[in-house]
Amino acid sequence: MNFFSSMREDIAAVLDRDPAAKSRLEVVLLYSGLHALWGYRFNHWLWVHKRRFLARMMSQWGRLITGIEIHPGAEIGRRFFIDHGMGVVIGETTIIGDDVTLFQGVTLGGTGKESGKRHPTLRNNVVVGAGARVLGNIIIGENSRIGAGSVVLRDVPDNSTVVGVPGHIVLRRGQRVVITDPKQINDPLSEALAAVANEVKRLKEEVRELQGRQFVPVDGEDKLQQVIEIDYQI
Ligand SMILES: CC(C)(COP(=O)(O)OP(=O)(O)OC[C@H]1O[C@@H](n2cnc3c(N)ncnc32)[C@H](O)[C@@H]1OP(=O)(O)O)[C@@H](O)C(=O)NCCC(=O)NCCS
Repeated sequence: MNFFSSMREDIAAVLDRDPAAKSRLEVVLLYSGLHALWGYRFNHWLWVHKRRFLARMMSQWGRLITGIEIHPGAEIGRRFFIDHGMGVVIGETTIIGDDVTLFQGVTLGGTGKESGKRHPTLRNNVVVGAGARVLGNIIIGENSRIGAGSVVLRDVPDNSTVVGVPGHIVLRRGQRVVITDPKQINDPLSEALAAVANEVKRLKEEVRELQGRQFVPVDGEDKLQQVIEIDYQI
């Protein structure tokens, strides 16, 4: 596909995905995401032709104008759309499939602990909501959606919706995912709460034993314990 037909395709993608976009002229002149993408395509060409310093310099200039930083080493597929755009960062080893949409403030970054391929791979048709961080060499499966403000640190299967910090799957193929073990959401606070409840239970039993009394919970006393035993399976 030549440069001009791919530009036409990019414009059509914006008109298709942003209900606020009213005309081709408006899209061409006013959409920073599109300007960043076209700048990236040129910078990527420089990058693969070993003009790496120039590519980086141009990409930094592009960032100054659009507020969007796309490393020229990233690989981006067709009809990529960045809506609004300000604050988007796309790292060097990111791979993005076709028909992917990002909103403002999205980071496709590294965790700071890996080298080599250290940025995410987004398969076709992924949507990443405003302010979400997708970190590390992980794969976001086809047609998956990442909720605004989420922090995703693990692979996401196809056709899933992920929300939260850290991100966990709430919908799969449109069906609600029931988390039978809430520890799957990997929330360090829940683990701390579960540990405290466990300890309180043990201490209560010990006190009652020392007092020579049988364990008979007074009304409501054991609510927290019950919730935690059921929800956190301790
Ligand atoms: C994640 C998202 C795609 C989910 O859409 P959806 O498939 O229609 O899912 P639902 O709205 O039914 O939400 C499913 C559950 O996740 C929760 N949820 C949705 N988005 C969330 C988010 N960003 N953070 C935390 N929880 C979220 C909902 O409250 C709901 O939970 P509940 O069933 O316990 O009430 C959407 O909410 C989102 O964040 N889109 C990003 C859009 C964006 O960035 N717009 C910026 C425009 S400028």
